[in-house]
Amino acid sequence: MMARCLPSPRPSGPSAICGAQPPAPPTSPFGLAPRVCLSRPLAELELRLLTLRLLQTLRFSLEPDQDLSLDMIPTPRPRSGVLVRAAAKHSAP
Ligand code: HEM
Repeated sequence: MMARCLPSPRPSGPSAICGAQPPAPPTSPFGLAPRVCLSRPLAELELRLLTLRLLQTLRFSLEPDQDLSLDMIPTPRPRSGVLVRAAAKHSAP
């Protein structure tokens, strides 16, 4: 019974449960059906508003000489992080 339900010797995550879908690929940050994020539209709206506010108020620049190669798991991201300088934008008089 256990071997049929848990074919992997080291099961982990939702796929370890009988009948569950495999884990979402790394490019699906909100998951995939049937376990997709219920609040994806709200979360995406919040991210757009936050990004807009940051871009309105701050000027960003990359620190030089960084390794910008990616790790793809669990989600695509810079392998060694990214150093970014943020400076307040000067408002027009
Ligand atoms: C950037 C923001 C977010 C990301 C990347 C995200 C991602 C995810 C992912 C990957 C899952 C599936 C988890 C699984 O497979 O078990 C999930 C589920 C869920 N998320 Fe989000 N989420 C975000 C924001 C939110 C917010 C703001 C809410 C609520 C206000 C929310 C509510 C839920 C709920 C209720 C589930 C469970 C859905 C289910 O089991 O059927 N999420 N989310």
